[in-house]
Amino acid sequence: MINTYIRNFQSKFNATPHTYRIPGRINLIGEHIDYNAGWVLPAAVDKSIYLSIAPSQEEHSHIYAQDFEQALELDHSQLQNHKGWGKYIAAILQIAQAKQLTVQPFNALFGGDLPIGSGMSSSAALCCGFIQALNDLNQWNLSKREIAKMGQATEHQVGIKCGLMDQYAVMFGQKDQFVLLDCLTETHEYVPANLGDYQLVLINSNVKHELLDSEYNNRREACENTLATLQQKYPQVQSFRDITKSMILENEDKFPQSQVLNSLFVVKEIERIQAAVQALKEGKVEELGQLLYDTHLGLSVEYRVSCDELDCLVELAKGQGVIGARMMGGGFGGCTLNLIHKDQAMETAETIAQAYQKETNIEADIIAVKIAQGTHKVE
Ligand code: GLA
Repeated sequence: MINTYIRNFQSKFNATPHTYRIPGRINLIGEHIDYNAGWVLPAAVDKSIYLSIAPSQEEHSHIYAQDFEQALELDHSQLQNHKGWGKYIAAILQIAQAKQLTVQPFNALFGGDLPIGSGMSSSAALCCGFIQALNDLNQWNLSKREIAKMGQATEHQVGIKCGLMDQYAVMFGQKDQFVLLDCLTETHEYVPANLGDYQLVLINSNVKHELLDSEYNNRREACENTLATLQQKYPQVQSFRDITKSMILENEDKFPQSQVLNSLFVVKEIERIQAAVQALKEGKVEELGQLLYDTHLGLSVEYRVSCDELDCLVELAKGQGVIGARMMGGGFGGCTLNLIHKDQAMETAETIAQAYQKETNIEADIIAVKIAQGTHKVE
């Protein structure tokens, strides 16, 4: 696949590019926890964006999105009002300029097999890929962590106040390892992805998350409000990880009921992730699976970021004896993550997809994922 992009770049721009593979990510457990200073357990996967890039002698940069057949001519002094994927690249340049990092004009071409808007962080991959490539081209000398943080700042500039999980996984992913990210210290350790007889299969609901941006920012704001309110009463509370269920319940009257539920979800999800890491390390995969189901219920009922289609996919997975399934990512659409026995993984996913189509009239996509290396230069 990669050679096609390199060839297309050569024929379009008549130059030999550097080419990067930038992966999407999954998240085993710890959803909506990164911006609450807990822990998360993502991994980079083998579905990726390929980005070819080379310096240009022209005044403006030219970027071609192979899969959309869309071209963008980017004037570095006109970075406002871009749309679609172009707005991310324009935002990266704005941030670079604000940091006084020079950006030479460049030609770039990208495409790949990472589904867009499916909860696999295609936008984080796009941003981190471009930042890594521009870093190398312009000798910015940014570390992986700084690239991840600049990727996060790009999303913030575009309007979604995300945490650091996606960009961190995209940059630090390793083959067959989950990245246990401590979101308070922004450091990580690897946990081997020993899933025994089970494998991870994504089922894309093919519902696009239109509500995501506004609802995501609302949830984040509500959590920040809970933290600030409880900090006034409990000075020992530094972050959400110091909050207990009883603190929330004893102060219930200070919050709307929806916020009480959100906050309880965060505390319980932080507990679940600790249990999940333990289960993973001890090879107790069934226990891990049950935690995925518990997380889904919490995301659906307490945090309210699921939707009928995702709930339907998870119920169908239960009916098929899948040991664990949950919605993954920001929510309101995208994929479910399923932990299925290796012997019948694809058949089971197929049965779920067929039943889903009967119930919703929507065709789901089945994506078997392998845990793979983070962003790197391939050529
Ligand atoms: C999106 C955000 C992440 C994270 C997840 C939910 O993917 O970009 O920072 O908050 O949602 O876990």
